[in-house]
Amino acid sequence: MPDPILLISDSHRPSEPLARTLALLGSVTTLSLADGAPDGGSHRPAEGPDGRFSTVVADIDLRDARSVSSLRRCLMPGGRAAPPTLCLLDGSGHDETVQAWAIGASAVMPVAAGREQLLAAVLSLAPPPATVTPRVSRAVPGVGAALADLLEGAASGTAIRPAVVADASVLMLDAIGDDGIGAWLDVVRTIDDITYQHCLSTAGFVAAFALRLGFSRRDGEALCRAALVHDIGKGRVPLEILGKQGGLSPGERAVMREHAALGHELLVMQGGFDSMSLEIARHHHEFLDGSGYPDGLAGAAIPDHVRIMTICDIFGALTERRPYKPAMAPADAMRIMGGMDNQLDGDLLHSFRDCFRDLD
Ligand SMILES: [Fe+2]
Ligand SMILES: [Fe+2]
Repeated sequence: MPDPILLISDSHRPSEPLARTLALLGSVTTLSLADGAPDGGSHRPAEGPDGRFSTVVADIDLRDARSVSSLRRCLMPGGRAAPPTLCLLDGSGHDETVQAWAIGASAVMPVAAGREQLLAAVLSLAPPPATVTPRVSRAVPGVGAALADLLEGAASGTAIRPAVVADASVLMLDAIGDDGIGAWLDVVRTIDDITYQHCLSTAGFVAAFALRLGFSRRDGEALCRAALVHDIGKGRVPLEILGKQGGLSPGERAVMREHAALGHELLVMQGGFDSMSLEIARHHHEFLDGSGYPDGLAGAAIPDHVRIMTICDIFGALTERRPYKPAMAPADAMRIMGGMDNQLDGDLLHSFRDCFRDLD
């Protein structure tokens, strides 16, 4: 695993949204300058797994002398050289910029610039390992930023823009078509946030499977668009439930299950999403034997594109690392899914197994 990103913040803005965005690039350690030492005393960054950080993102009020002095100490613990540091600026004030360079920032950018620009800036400071292909290393943050915008739109009731989904699906299909699902997963599996990781890995399986099944470019893009928004309803599920370690209570499970109908409703209300996206958002937890939700559809009532999504969704969930479980080996996941023969489409499952046989 690459070194974590260190996010240093003070109390002038909540750090959680920023940490969630940065989690698209790997694990994130957050250090709050406001914790524990109100005099801006001897803060030291928490140690990462191997005591190193790939990058520092500083989100502090650069006009506050105490925050600046604490940050300076954090950046050079024990006289060590600081990792590349990105300072976020509140405005375009000359003072902030000068202060950032004086601290030793490697780059500065306005905090309002947006998710994709932030991820690109961090990536430019700490390029991914050489084993990650350039196309995939650019596409994952691009698609991830789009996904984060979509989930945030779902959570806040702002627009879920179909054009964002369409652009992301092109980016993803191109990257996986050229570099393969393995390269895609190498990057996606480093993402800390389980909802982002799940949506990006599952959509990746859908893209690779569509390519293997010989879908036309048009149909492949439609399926990828649907896969990217299949769990959009999770934007309305509280983060405490989404990220809960250990099993959910029956009440929490019921809230979680609402994401399918909620996602469908959100896409309908937004408008501009095709029937494939709407059906997949609502029905990707239905099973052929009628035991799924939310509508208990069975057999022929479940269209092929939904059956494909369901298989990719389950495989993604089983093979992802979660806070409460390690990642399952693909072969073990295939074995479990092979036992779901009343619930999953047997022919599609057979092709799926063929497509991902070499995955490790
Ligand atoms: Fe789901
Ligand atoms: Fe899902």
